[in-house]
Amino acid sequence: MTFERKIRIAPSILSADFADFGREIRAVEDQGADWVHVDVMDGHFVPNLTFGPPAVAAFRRHVTTVMDVHLMIAPVDPHIAAFAAAGADILTAHVEAGPHIHRTLQAIRAGGMRAGVALNPGTPAEAVEPLLDVADLVCVMTVNPGFGGQQFIDTGDKVRRLRAMIGGRPVHIQVDGGIDEATAPLVARAGADVLVAGSAVFRGGSVDEPAAYGRNIEAIRRAALSATGAMA
Ligand code: DX5
Ligand code: ZN
Repeated sequence: MTFERKIRIAPSILSADFADFGREIRAVEDQGADWVHVDVMDGHFVPNLTFGPPAVAAFRRHVTTVMDVHLMIAPVDPHIAAFAAAGADILTAHVEAGPHIHRTLQAIRAGGMRAGVALNPGTPAEAVEPLLDVADLVCVMTVNPGFGGQQFIDTGDKVRRLRAMIGGRPVHIQVDGGIDEATAPLVARAGADVLVAGSAVFRGGSVDEPAAYGRNIEAIRRAALSATGAMA
């Protein structure tokens, strides 16, 4: 797959109707989602529980774009094969999840997926510097992970430092948490290209009223593009 750094919107289905994931995924994709972001939580690395590989495999049947799976679990390595079998396109592990993140990223790639590494708000950009040749994506958390709908933490400086570190490497910078029309310009200007948004995409809509999802996605995209000087 060729690498392209352009603004992408990745709705997080953490804000979808949990009893209707298939239709929710199809609705956000019909309404312009570039990727579908899937938040896996274990009640241990983060204080919340969501779903595991069988649910992710069921989502796979509905995703036609890119299934971007964000693991907020520790340990990661024992579960990599199961998420590969479930059909993840991108598998992201936290740098804080264990002592052997380099091995984890290699194992994710060896499993046929693209490898992402996520950083909590309290972790400096430098923590991923030695990993940039074994990663396809760096996810900068703009909230403390665990829940949707939290307030954005400004990580503009961290994103700018990462963007400089990455240079010409084919590595996406993703931001996750509290992204909406107001915060998207700050992270896009700093160099983020993949914007995850849960509550700001799903608010005001439903599978029966999906046009609101489309308006929300386009509003975030336009705000990000205008901040980077590109036209919507
Ligand atoms: C937070 C998750 C996010 C979350 C974002 O732990 O990783 O992906 O769904 O939700 P919002 O956009 O509502 O902050
Ligand atoms: Zn996430």
